[in-house]
Amino acid sequence: MTSTRRDVLRLLGLGAVAVAGVPGCSLIAGTPQPQLLTSAAPLPRPYAVPLPVPETAKPVRSAGGADFYELTERAAEVEVLPGLRTGIWGYGGTFPGPTIEARAGRRTVVKLVNQLGEPTVLHLHGGHTPPESDGFPTDLVAPGASREYVFPLEQRAATLWYHDHRMDYTGPQVWRGLAGMFLVRDAEEEALPLPAGERDLPLLICDRSFAADGTMLYPALEGRPGVREAYMGGVLGDVILVNGAPWPELRVARARYRLRLCNASNARTYELATGGPLVQIGSDGGLLAHPRTVRQLRLAPGERADVVVDFSAYKVGQQVELRNLAGEGAQARVMRFAVDRDEKDESSVPERLSTVEALDPGKAKVTREFEFSSGGMGWLINGKPFDPKRMEARPRLGDIEVWRLTSDVAHPVHLHLDHFQVLTVNGERPQGPPEWKDTVELREAQTVEIVTRFTDYRGRYVLHCHNLEHEDMAMMAAFEVV
Ligand code: C2O
Ligand code: CU
Repeated sequence: MTSTRRDVLRLLGLGAVAVAGVPGCSLIAGTPQPQLLTSAAPLPRPYAVPLPVPETAKPVRSAGGADFYELTERAAEVEVLPGLRTGIWGYGGTFPGPTIEARAGRRTVVKLVNQLGEPTVLHLHGGHTPPESDGFPTDLVAPGASREYVFPLEQRAATLWYHDHRMDYTGPQVWRGLAGMFLVRDAEEEALPLPAGERDLPLLICDRSFAADGTMLYPALEGRPGVREAYMGGVLGDVILVNGAPWPELRVARARYRLRLCNASNARTYELATGGPLVQIGSDGGLLAHPRTVRQLRLAPGERADVVVDFSAYKVGQQVELRNLAGEGAQARVMRFAVDRDEKDESSVPERLSTVEALDPGKAKVTREFEFSSGGMGWLINGKPFDPKRMEARPRLGDIEVWRLTSDVAHPVHLHLDHFQVLTVNGERPQGPPEWKDTVELREAQTVEIVTRFTDYRGRYVLHCHNLEHEDMAMMAAFEVV
């Protein structure tokens, strides 16, 4: 079961030559867009299902300053749509997987046990991870095998997530359920009076579609790449799930809640809004320097945002919808909060949250170009489909570099190993102080410059589009820190 990129292209009826040799065919008109799969199953009324909160994983042991976890990937049947059974592939047999709560600077070791019939790869998205544990897309864990991933977590507190990263199959494998949240905490953040405990909530948002019997739909058979022309633009589901439940509802107190929003969708971008203020306190790479009040928040696949919502602005009995302004019909709804009680609330959002060092692009040793474009029957970076053996860049350990990313259609671009800061979008500096990101959405025909510093680990990593169908259709580049 070690199919290569070439096998996949052959499966798709393509030769590598045909893919690599389509010059300048990035006409947006002919470029595939994400496609919606329509469910045949009866769908629940919005807000009829209570919001589940994934279990917090318990370490199997703690020793020598490290916590050891075991995550077993297995097939299971769960109730996603009321009254129907849905087969999933889940970490611990659940979808989403259990939430791992870890501490910055404390080693977290995850033993991944693969009880599925297909190879898998685990990646901690946003983790500052040595290469052998970063889930390089060809570092497969075979069916029946296991592997230990070591996460030193020498990084800031942040909302991370983990998911499958198998070369060419990430889309179908994540779609089936292989995703979960991973929270890194630290003393700096715990010293702040932010909402905590039950009022610190991970919300993993993704879309799925279902056949009449509750089976998840995906344009492929049994996880094989069958994405082909119609779906290579990305797969959209017509049911919005939060923590694995369709358009759920959460009863909340008249108090502040910290919502850790994570867009775990294959290809859907959300524009989230409640109608009231959202106080953003964190981004992919942890706390912002200062809170930022916004009316809506755009999240592309892979991105996270930490926001505080103060439900004391509402009365008991009021309902607050979290809507998706980028969606239509049922896909414009995400979840609902029902304000049902008063509760003492001593939390607050301080004006100063953290210190965010501004990386100086003037110190960059190199500026590199990465062009994200369509290659007809696949997706390309700098004109080439992913080849895990070819290093597209060799940054030196410790160096600051500027990477200039350009797009044809929208691509959420994700960099492994180190967080980065956005310098310019189409030549303009973004507003406000710098923040740490690991995924940035290039919108149609944009140029985004990011600055990063390669730290701590030498070895192979990847840069890729986080539209998972684009990723599986080769929009990935390997680089090696030397
Ligand atoms: Cu969230 Cu390389 O992936
Ligand atoms: Cu893309």
